[in-house]
Amino acid sequence: EKQGFKHFMLKEIYEQPGVVRASLEAYFNTNSHPENSSNSPINIGLPTEVYADLEQIQIVACGTSWHAALVGKYLLEQLAQIPTQVQYASEFRYAPSPLTPNTLTIGVTQSGETADTLAALAMEQERRQGREPKYQARLLGITNRPESSLGHMVPHIINTLAGIEIGVAATKTFIAQLMAFYALALDLAYSRQTLPHESLEDILKGLRQIPKEIEATLESQEKLTEQLAHEFAETTDFIFLGRGINFPIALEGALKLKEISYIHAEGYPAGEMKHGPIALLDAKVPVVAIAMPGSVYEKVISNAQEAKARDSRLIGVTPVKDGEAGEIFNDLIPVSFVDELLSPILTVIPLQLLAYHIAARRGLDVDQPRNLAKSVTVE
Ligand code: F6R
Repeated sequence: EKQGFKHFMLKEIYEQPGVVRASLEAYFNTNSHPENSSNSPINIGLPTEVYADLEQIQIVACGTSWHAALVGKYLLEQLAQIPTQVQYASEFRYAPSPLTPNTLTIGVTQSGETADTLAALAMEQERRQGREPKYQARLLGITNRPESSLGHMVPHIINTLAGIEIGVAATKTFIAQLMAFYALALDLAYSRQTLPHESLEDILKGLRQIPKEIEATLESQEKLTEQLAHEFAETTDFIFLGRGINFPIALEGALKLKEISYIHAEGYPAGEMKHGPIALLDAKVPVVAIAMPGSVYEKVISNAQEAKARDSRLIGVTPVKDGEAGEIFNDLIPVSFVDELLSPILTVIPLQLLAYHIAARRGLDVDQPRNLAKSVTVE
């Protein structure tokens, strides 16, 4: 039941701190896993053969799960130093990459029933059958429904801990998928020794703070995003910009808005804007820029400045209130100051809220948007 929330989507957005807590408890609380013999501070229950001689990872997914996979790629490459490709399942199944040895193939699907994702995994299994050992398929599923078709198809699962999601637009299942990727990337980094012990500890410490930070974020942003929604209810186009680990969050912000409010929105890596999309910008097209302090902060600010010079109204998702950032943004949606590496878990929240409030303001059926279904079981 909706427990006082107007829609399931809003209730599920508010359940996200709990989802992160449940994930921390399951993946990172070694005390609760006395059977864990690897000494890794992470326990996702994967047998060692999944990691043995690993050279490459390929991930197949659709929609929001594909966005989670892009964050996963960033983590797997930057923390565990494993070359990682992310493919749309619908593309991969008809034009797979050439076979690479010692490759882990991950299917990410919250429902565990998405036809293209299942077919891509089945194709991978089949084309590697009978090959020499290093070319044999190693399949891993990341799903919120271990009892699903995916669960029956792959030998290993990381179970995401979102609980049942009713709103068609994925919110808490996305956060749960991100948590699974943090756990996987850190576990691999631990076993491959690609990360100094102190850095690993720092990241774990940061992750443990995230539920409180999400709670603070929700509290401070609810009214703010509602106000913005009021102003943007009639807007017809939006651009979302992010770079690095927050580029997939820009894509996700745009997808949420499209899905439930039927407003045209595009997400771009901020540096790519000048290569075409900048021609769209004028006073009628607001730009939401995700600007988290870290490796690409100045770059995002300077890309946002380019948008502002075209008269776009600039909305900043940033913890920086004063200085240059404070001045360039017309509207600020403040998020807590967290390590860039962990920031996607926080920056996605205001984008979910913004999409929600715009759709609600427009009087739309937020939980059951037109033309969409919770699981897409046809090609
Ligand atoms: C987005 C959304 C869809 C799904 C996509 C994949 O809000 O709901 O884009 O993410 O259909 O679904 P799963 O994860 O079930 O494979």
